[in-house]
Amino acid sequence: MSAPNSLFVRAAKAQPTERTPVWFMRQAGRYMPEYRAIRKKYSLIEICKKPEIAAQVTIEAAEILKVDAAIIFADLLLPLEVMGLPFHFAAGGGPKIEKPIRTMQDVAALRSDRAADLGYVSEAIKIVCKHFGDKLPVIGFCGAPFTLASYMIEGGSSRNYVFTKTMMYSAPDAWSELMGKLVSVTAQYSAEQVGAGADTIQIFDSWVGCLSVEDYRRCVLPHVTKLVKSLQKTGVPIIYFGTDSATLLPSMKETGAEVIGLDWRIPLDTGWQSLSFKGSVQGNLDPVLLFAEWEQLKPRAEEILRRAAGRPGHIFNLGHGILPETPVENVKALCDFVREHSAEFKK
Ligand code: CP3
Repeated sequence: MSAPNSLFVRAAKAQPTERTPVWFMRQAGRYMPEYRAIRKKYSLIEICKKPEIAAQVTIEAAEILKVDAAIIFADLLLPLEVMGLPFHFAAGGGPKIEKPIRTMQDVAALRSDRAADLGYVSEAIKIVCKHFGDKLPVIGFCGAPFTLASYMIEGGSSRNYVFTKTMMYSAPDAWSELMGKLVSVTAQYSAEQVGAGADTIQIFDSWVGCLSVEDYRRCVLPHVTKLVKSLQKTGVPIIYFGTDSATLLPSMKETGAEVIGLDWRIPLDTGWQSLSFKGSVQGNLDPVLLFAEWEQLKPRAEEILRRAAGRPGHIFNLGHGILPETPVENVKALCDFVREHSAEFKK
């Protein structure tokens, strides 16, 4: 941990803070001209694999926005490569996994002994931690086993997750083995990020909301719980984020994660109440509101702070990542607003 007494870490532990900490998923991304300038020189994967550049992108975004935490610049899919599944980003499109996995044999061939080859991410974290010292916490992250499996099996983004769910329903042994391997790799990878100085790990389960509660509980919850418990041994608080997750929230809390990320579809207090107000929550402004005028945006940000009602343990964020065409000025204005006015909602 590099900034154990920061607002962000205290809020993640549901301790009282004088104001609400704020950061944004995808705070370094295409909406930002400084990022686009670096992307002219390097591909996304090149940035991830050059620790100096990944650190620069991470630091620049955090300093431009004046957020309360820096998220390391990396991609969710990096572990696929060390497991034996090469992928690339098609020009202007999403990720493409070259040979998606579909059978038990495919799962059996995946490697789970090369997490150390992702050491470039930890190297970048070390540089960021050195830069910020105890002034700003650093967020490490990994994909959750379901969301990573969905990319490995579908071969890219998906609408209905037909191949993923088919393996889950029809080949439970292959599914369990796959979940086990993903938990093993992401646990090692994330522990290394903490060793390098990360103050938390956020587990992204971006697409888990396509599951029924029953399927989530049977096929996913035991595996994420194992990952969370393993990471908690490192001593940092864990953030577990999903979208479309309103019905899953109480089950997600059973993983033991200190912070649950809420998307924008559920009112913040309703989501928090479904967790019996235990632990912390992060969220949850609709990222598309950042395309609106400040006079529409401001009351919606106030509404979220009002719903948090000054309870200890709210981290302000969007309900999902910043979208590519988002006006930077609005992101800055929102961040300034939370920094300057959130204390008024604590009374
Ligand atoms: O600032 C940050 O939040 C840190 C960086 C970060 C990236 N990806 C960089 C990136 C993080 C946290 C991620 C996580 C990630 N990657 C997720 C989970 C988060 C979520 O959105 O739910 C997922 C599903 C991925 C896989 C992935 N990578 C997709 C689907 C895409 C989009 C492809 C596209 O063209 O929009 C990416 C590309 C990607 N990863 C970008 C960034 C900044 C897009 C910009 C670029 O191409 O340079």
